[in-house]
Amino acid sequence: MCGIVGYVGRRQAYPILIKGLHRLEYRGYDSAGLALVDSGGVLNVFKSKGKVAELEKFVESKDLDGTIGIAHTRWATHGEPNDVNAHPHYSDSGEIALIHNGIIENYRVLKDALIENGYKFKSDTDTEVLVNLIEYIKVSSGCTLLEAVQQALKQVVGAYAIAVVERGNQDRVIAARRSSPMVIGIGNDGDYFLASDGASIIDYTDKIVYVKDGEVVIMERDKPLKIVNLDNEKGKIDIKKLELSISQLEKGGYPHFMIKEIFEQPKTIVDCTRGRINAETRDIILSGVMDNLDKFLAARRIIFVACGTSWHASLIGEYLIEEFCRIPVEVEYASEFRYRNPVIHSDDVVIAVSQSGETADTLAAIELAKEHGAFVYGICNVIGSSIARATASGTYIHVGPEIGVASTKAFTGQVTVLTMLAVAIARAKGTITVDKAHQIAGDLLGLPSVIEETLKLNDFIADFSKIFTYAHNFIYLGRGYNYPTALEGALKLKEISYIHAEGYPAAEMKHGPIALIDSELPTIAIATPDHTYEKTASNIEEIKARGGKVITIIAKGDEQMQRISDYYIEVPVVAESLMPIVVSVPLQLLAYHIAVNKGRDVDMPRNLAKSVTVE
Ligand code: F6R
Repeated sequence: MCGIVGYVGRRQAYPILIKGLHRLEYRGYDSAGLALVDSGGVLNVFKSKGKVAELEKFVESKDLDGTIGIAHTRWATHGEPNDVNAHPHYSDSGEIALIHNGIIENYRVLKDALIENGYKFKSDTDTEVLVNLIEYIKVSSGCTLLEAVQQALKQVVGAYAIAVVERGNQDRVIAARRSSPMVIGIGNDGDYFLASDGASIIDYTDKIVYVKDGEVVIMERDKPLKIVNLDNEKGKIDIKKLELSISQLEKGGYPHFMIKEIFEQPKTIVDCTRGRINAETRDIILSGVMDNLDKFLAARRIIFVACGTSWHASLIGEYLIEEFCRIPVEVEYASEFRYRNPVIHSDDVVIAVSQSGETADTLAAIELAKEHGAFVYGICNVIGSSIARATASGTYIHVGPEIGVASTKAFTGQVTVLTMLAVAIARAKGTITVDKAHQIAGDLLGLPSVIEETLKLNDFIADFSKIFTYAHNFIYLGRGYNYPTALEGALKLKEISYIHAEGYPAAEMKHGPIALIDSELPTIAIATPDHTYEKTASNIEEIKARGGKVITIIAKGDEQMQRISDYYIEVPVVAESLMPIVVSVPLQLLAYHIAVNKGRDVDMPRNLAKSVTVE
């Protein structure tokens, strides 16, 4: 959730750290700060509440000399977002400074022990406990900083990615991780970069080392990179090339990343299907599925574990796999699954879906599934992410970096991959006809142009959104494949506009929520043609009969639905199972424009972070 960045080299560290923080701001933006060791060995910490721009203002007149430094953007866990709780934290004597992403779960016990030993604390954070513990060990046992870091981390329960610098050492940053992401970038000039993700240092290097759990990294200017574990045993340095271009990380003329990412969807669906659907034969080849066909064919059950938008995509996965593969499917919130002693068989296949590949609850659910001997498959976007590495096999959605906090292109990419996965398994299992499989593959290939056409609704929706900008609540309804789409539409609206919105299966309304209906409560009903079309029409009539305003998402030219709707948005029609991909586009646009009308910070909505690496 928090983002960390660091630099050791010959260049001035400050501009590199600030650029990295801007790139990492999607991870948290409650406060930001940095520590620099200047050429005389003086350790300076600067930090302030708010976004990185506030930090830049704060340091305008400061001496920012230093070719070594660490920096942090915070998503608050322990202690409110303010200047004092911002990172980096000094140790009590001011000799050491530390940044941290994660949670030290046993911080209270450690803090009490340090207080007994005379340590004073300025902040409410768990992080200040760790920096003081390191200092205490170093001073009381006379060991080196590296040894103190190793010993301190042995006492820590919880998750961390940390970086440490100390007064008087202008050459070295020590970093370590457990359960929170960290990469090291190897510069061309004897210099090193450190970050929560590769995207934040791609301006400087594409040579990346993914730090593994339990590893400690020693980055010293002009010296070879060293990796050891907490017992000082040497680790392997495996350098990978980061496949990313800087333009993917810029807004490219759009006012927000979210709208850029919505408009990228025709291309991201192409990227997602590239090399996986043969345009001539219409055969679907997903290597991850083909290589593990025995596991999928023998699966007693498929269990999805995911959170948020990825959980909504997984629900669509359930509908797809049950319809095409006839394998029973369960969809679990990763956070519930991991704590409720679920029944997991060794012949279950667990599919973890995650855009970031770093979601802590999903990672923990994967570990639980592995302990029970299940085969775990990952569907991730971020290449080399923790979930991609923790799973036995998987499929990347290949939609490029998603920076807007509200997930858009990742959702449609996930549903696209899930469709290909379901069809590939169904073909192998013989539960789908060849014709049907080819038809779906053809429809998938046609999707980019359908989405292109759907995006032409943007101006209409921008205008139309003004009618509903000041509504306090919304209901989103859908049935079948479009029930998860309704959930996703409601999530998009609430997270970026802060308007309360609920998604419901349309027929469930009469079992309670219909009591909410009055002229002040707009209902967005997804009413595209499918086998429950007439039933959805009746559900809409039930709302209208109670004075509710209904906005429908309908097939182009559908006069029946036009007649019963107060307002309607017309979309092109594709096969029923692919409608969520098309319908989610106007829902994304509606949420976006309402949030813009309300003056919200669309890409960095309050209290949220893109990558949820704490429980
Ligand atoms: C909503 C959103 C979140 C994420 C959730 C899981 O727009 O982005 O709900 O979907 O935090 O994140 P990933 O997919 O990275 O595991």
